[in-house]
Amino acid sequence: MFVNTVGPLDAKIMLVGEAPGVEEDKTGEPFANIREFGAGRTLNQVLSQAGISRAECLIANVARERPPGNKISFYFEDKGCTVPKPKLKEWIDLLKREITLYNPNVIVALGTTALWALTGEKKVGELRGYVIPCTLVPGKKVLATYHPQ
Ligand code: URA
Repeated sequence: MFVNTVGPLDAKIMLVGEAPGVEEDKTGEPFANIREFGAGRTLNQVLSQAGISRAECLIANVARERPPGNKISFYFEDKGCTVPKPKLKEWIDLLKREITLYNPNVIVALGTTALWALTGEKKVGELRGYVIPCTLVPGKKVLATYHPQ
């Protein structure tokens, strides 16, 4: 199932994940897996620890459909996951249009795929916690962090 971006359109914070998983594919909702060890549960926990409610954030994914076996490499031409296939290119363009339209103050890249799509950078371990310029929508700020999974 196609998983759309959700949340208030005037949100100050936009969270960007990688791709829907099994639960998201069933419900059409990003980060819907709130079972034990689910990415949605971890996301909710870290947000609440930071004093942020999930309901005040826009929540998006780079890929909008679950890749087979949850392997994001499915959407890339190359092993290093740097050359997106046409479908992923379309979704990245959609993300670009959403960021431009909703104009959040900060975009949080949850993991390597989001960081790459938003900034062209891949080293989330080195960049975690830093604010990096957004190359997808120049002028916007991206905060890098690990994926909740
Ligand atoms: N992981 C993601 O990156 N996005 C989701 O929506 C769920 C799990």
